[in-house]
Amino acid sequence: MKLNPSISTEDPGECAPTPVIRPRRLRRTPALRSLVRETRFCASQLILPVFVAEHGDSVPITSLPGQSRWSIPDLPRTAEAAVAAGIPGLLLFGIPASRDPVGSSAYAASGPVPQAVRLLRREFPDLILMADVCLCEYTSHGHCGILKPSGEVDNDPTLDVLARTALAYADAGADVIAPSDMMDGRVRAIRKRLDAGGHSDVPILSYAAKYASAFYGPFREAAGSAPQFGDRRGYQMDAANRREALREVRLDLEEGADMVMVKPALAYLDLIRDVRDAVDVPVAAYNVSGEYAMVKAAAAQGWLDERSAVMEILTGIARAGADFIFTYHAIDAAKWLSG
Ligand code: PBG
Repeated sequence: MKLNPSISTEDPGECAPTPVIRPRRLRRTPALRSLVRETRFCASQLILPVFVAEHGDSVPITSLPGQSRWSIPDLPRTAEAAVAAGIPGLLLFGIPASRDPVGSSAYAASGPVPQAVRLLRREFPDLILMADVCLCEYTSHGHCGILKPSGEVDNDPTLDVLARTALAYADAGADVIAPSDMMDGRVRAIRKRLDAGGHSDVPILSYAAKYASAFYGPFREAAGSAPQFGDRRGYQMDAANRREALREVRLDLEEGADMVMVKPALAYLDLIRDVRDAVDVPVAAYNVSGEYAMVKAAAAQGWLDERSAVMEILTGIARAGADFIFTYHAIDAAKWLSG
């Protein structure tokens, strides 16, 4: 076999040999391109992350243009827009009225997420309500767990708080519990508590391979959850590690996770593919706040076309193997997909 069979070398005298095989034939018209397109995704695979504040009015989030911290009464408006666009679900993040060192507002039945879930459950019975479970929005120090006197996050006592929080969200009516804290053993602890609380039918989507990332910057502004000291490298994964992602995923599945997530998405597309190939449960990817903010900022300058950039990004994440995608672009993308 010739090294490059697409180039005819029949006539060595030709300075520009004629290609025999021409991939461009199948790119000639939009209909042909669509016919042979390998990756397709639709609005039903997009989940919109939503911030909900226990107190105060809705406020636009400067670092996430187009997104707001919603007050509870305003929240149905966003849900309505998502439903109208064909988005199947929301991922809820709460911003509590008060924070303490042990994150106790995370599991208050009157907290922002349980309130939001109860309200939306009534008004939108078919909308999938996913509840992010983590303590960083609820602790005064902004870390994802309870601290040791040394300032390190103390894994095992944190598990109980996470499990109580998951139970409070399931009691309120959440359809999916999504722990994003990266404590060891949290899936097992949450599963046990949900089952004991009568929620054996509520699935867990674990943020299994969650990396310590600069791309969470705008989220932390939005949720007011930036750590007051240090960083999250002691519990979130190191960006350089690939095998470890599979280890985390396997552990979470052994502990009872029903679905797993890779996060962030864009600098981690190889991990999405690795995980998709390694397991048979649904795999989600999180197109995080910094990834959204970069597109918005460049588009606002006229430096790139927002619509094409977003569709290319989401296609890339789907092509890498994500079955569904968390993205702040969800409503726009869904409209573009249908229009
Ligand atoms: C909570 C949490 C974070 C994100 C999702 N859940 C922030 C963090 O870990 O610092 C980030 C989402 C985003 O950037 O869009 N732990």
